[in-house]
Amino acid sequence: MRIFSGIQPSGIPTLGNYLGAIRNWAALQDGNDCIYCVVDLHAITVFQDPAALRQQTREMAAVLLACGIDPEKHIVFLQSAVRAHAQLAWIFNCVARLGWLNRMTQFKDKAGKDRENASAGLYVYPNLMAADIHAYHATAVPVGDDQRQHLELANDIAQKFNHDYGVEFFPRIEPYIMGPAARVMSLRDGSKKMSKSDPSEQSRINLNDDADTIALKIRRAKTDPEPLPSEPDGLADRPEARNLVGIYAALTDGDAASVLREHGGKGFGAFKEALAALLVDHLAPIADETRRLLADPDHIDAVLGRGAARAAAIADPIVAEAERLVGFVRV
Ligand code: TYM
Repeated sequence: MRIFSGIQPSGIPTLGNYLGAIRNWAALQDGNDCIYCVVDLHAITVFQDPAALRQQTREMAAVLLACGIDPEKHIVFLQSAVRAHAQLAWIFNCVARLGWLNRMTQFKDKAGKDRENASAGLYVYPNLMAADIHAYHATAVPVGDDQRQHLELANDIAQKFNHDYGVEFFPRIEPYIMGPAARVMSLRDGSKKMSKSDPSEQSRINLNDDADTIALKIRRAKTDPEPLPSEPDGLADRPEARNLVGIYAALTDGDAASVLREHGGKGFGAFKEALAALLVDHLAPIADETRRLLADPDHIDAVLGRGAARAAAIADPIVAEAERLVGFVRV
């Protein structure tokens, strides 16, 4: 099975990126053929300072390696280094319908009230994402829950391309939305997703936070006055409690029921302490390894360079065939 996924270098990755995506990317390496991409073309759909983008791009690559992704057995590379992504995205811009893009909730969230001032790139963002995946004929895409709608669109685009050109060229893709933390919520507001771009630092755990910062953020995380319930049903109207239990479950490879068997009936004080300790145990080695890798940017660039060459070797012939099917003349 060929697996593809991507992450934007638009800031320090959060616990949401880790539990919803990166950790699963690492777990899927066994027995599959994985392609993991730092999507810098997507990042500039919102203005990025060029120096910061360069820094964040190398940081993101370092984090992926520090989380255990093996760039020898699999492929890690930058989206902008493989031209096939932008080439296929243009074809998909001409396949996708405006009505489909108008339904994308992430565009509505990101553009906000000032929709007229959003970049055209932000609007066609899901078409580029579809191109990322289909340029490799990938069939499995591990993502967090917030990407579900984009993957449905990627299937609609593939289906319309196949139908319009009378071929069975792009395969159906399967979203892999895995584990009890596929949607990690803000620590300040249980109805909002944890995000790199939230203006409140207190809303998220960053993968480079030190132990004290993690403990403080968890201690200050919004909760309610009730003790933890003893059954998952008791979390129904308690989004903040549900979020913390989901994070704990993911870190212990359990589920809400197993966490509540251990902590049900306790107040949040003790639970938060246990959760902070778990987070520090998981994240400190990643932060250390990321720092070690970043001390040698040439090594990171060499890994990315090799990754781009291997990625292009797969994507170029697939995109060349898509261009031929569309009717472009090659002389
Ligand atoms: P991005 O960079 O926003 O996030 C990267 C991955 O992290 C997941 N994620 C979360 N999971 C759980 N809880 C959260 N709070 C949370 N926040 C983020 C995302 O679901 C994602 O899996 N459009 C994509 C990048 C992309 C892509 C692709 C993904 C570009 N091309 C092709 C898959 C296939 C994005 O912006 O992810």
